[in-house]
Amino acid sequence: MRIGIPADTRNQGHVSFGFGRRVCVGLNLANQSLFIDIASLLWAASIEPAYDETGAEIVPSPTEYVDEGVVVHPAPFRCNIVP
Ligand code: HEM
Repeated sequence: MRIGIPADTRNQGHVSFGFGRRVCVGLNLANQSLFIDIASLLWAASIEPAYDETGAEIVPSPTEYVDEGVVVHPAPFRCNIVP
């Protein structure tokens, strides 16, 4: 068991799908669907930085985040998603 992660997460290594007897029964469908969705997005689109008024790249902060308790995600950032 990794420090801070309950043992029975079905080898997920995180608790996003819960753990123990109440672990999410849809985790395989969710993981496979997310893989397909993200792979399709990366295939179909070019994700590029946003640019400021001088034309310089706006680089998202690697350290800013939003902590909503159980779920922590990157702070909102600008980018250009080009089909
Ligand atoms: C990214 C997507 C998903 C996340 C983050 C997620 C997360 C969770 C979590 C945290 C629990 C445990 C709640 C608790 O401790 O009581 C749970 C339970 C459950 N999930 Fe998901 N889930 C996802 C997708 C799905 C999908 C796609 C299905 C069905 C196709 C599903 C069906 C269920 C069911 C039926 C339970 C209740 C299990 C039980 O209490 O025996 N979930 N989910």
